[in-house]
Amino acid sequence: MVLLDGKFISEKIKEEIKIEVQNIKNRGGRTPHLAAVLVGNDGASLTYVGSKVRSCEKVGFESTLIHLDENISEDNLISEINKLNDNDQIDGYIVQLPLPKHINEEKILMMVNPKKDVDGFHPFNFGKMAQNMDSFIPATPQGIIELIDRYDIDTEGKNTVVIGRSNIVGRPISILMSNKSKPGNSTVTLVHSRTPDIPSFTKKADIIIVALGIPNFLKSDMIKQGSVVIDVGITRVADKTKNKGYRIVGDVDFESVKTKVSYITPVPGGVGPMTIAMLLKNTLKARINN
Ligand code: GUN
Repeated sequence: MVLLDGKFISEKIKEEIKIEVQNIKNRGGRTPHLAAVLVGNDGASLTYVGSKVRSCEKVGFESTLIHLDENISEDNLISEINKLNDNDQIDGYIVQLPLPKHINEEKILMMVNPKKDVDGFHPFNFGKMAQNMDSFIPATPQGIIELIDRYDIDTEGKNTVVIGRSNIVGRPISILMSNKSKPGNSTVTLVHSRTPDIPSFTKKADIIIVALGIPNFLKSDMIKQGSVVIDVGITRVADKTKNKGYRIVGDVDFESVKTKVSYITPVPGGVGPMTIAMLLKNTLKARINN
């Protein structure tokens, strides 16, 4: 069994980005600048955004956190988005999800200038990705592809089962794995909460990507010997023995599954750190495109 070390690979990618940023600066170019919009004080979102901003500093980007009150009106949020669209000092920005219930998420994401959409959530970028055209690809699925690529895992003609159909992970990774590309060229089945008998699919899979948000969902009796398992789950589970009062648990029952697989991502330290590295990569791309 080989552990897919997303922490190690993401550090390598960040080093590569840092060098490119230095090259831009040495040529007298403007420093890449990422902004993050955070509405409210959701604990997990605060952690993720904080870590995105810290990573920007590590690679030499400028970053701006726009932290807004959770009761902000939709109109005022839209005017903040428009300011970012008009600000030519900002190359890319993200609107951290989820947004409070009184705000129409779809409407907000549609307001993001696709050229600054480093999350790749705007339908313009999503549509281009679906047609295998150059675009901003959402960070988590892009991180999975990069991890598979750096470990040189063969995906061509393999049976890939994706569990979960979210716009952020399940749906885009199912598209990327089926695209005519390397990694890609996989035969993809997307299963979800309404699929009867999920194990009948996972037992035949060469590659399983789990993005369901149900801790320890994938058990060893659901997979075949030698499969590749990618765990996208990051659920916080209360744990009094930890300083933070919780621990992060993946969608894969790691202890039982690890004995059967050829490759597996740990949680934490697998897909999570890759996501941030890909956001930085997208920001650099936005800067270069500008
Ligand atoms: N919420 C959970 N994942 C993400 C992400 O990748 N980007 C944003 N903006 N919000 C998220």
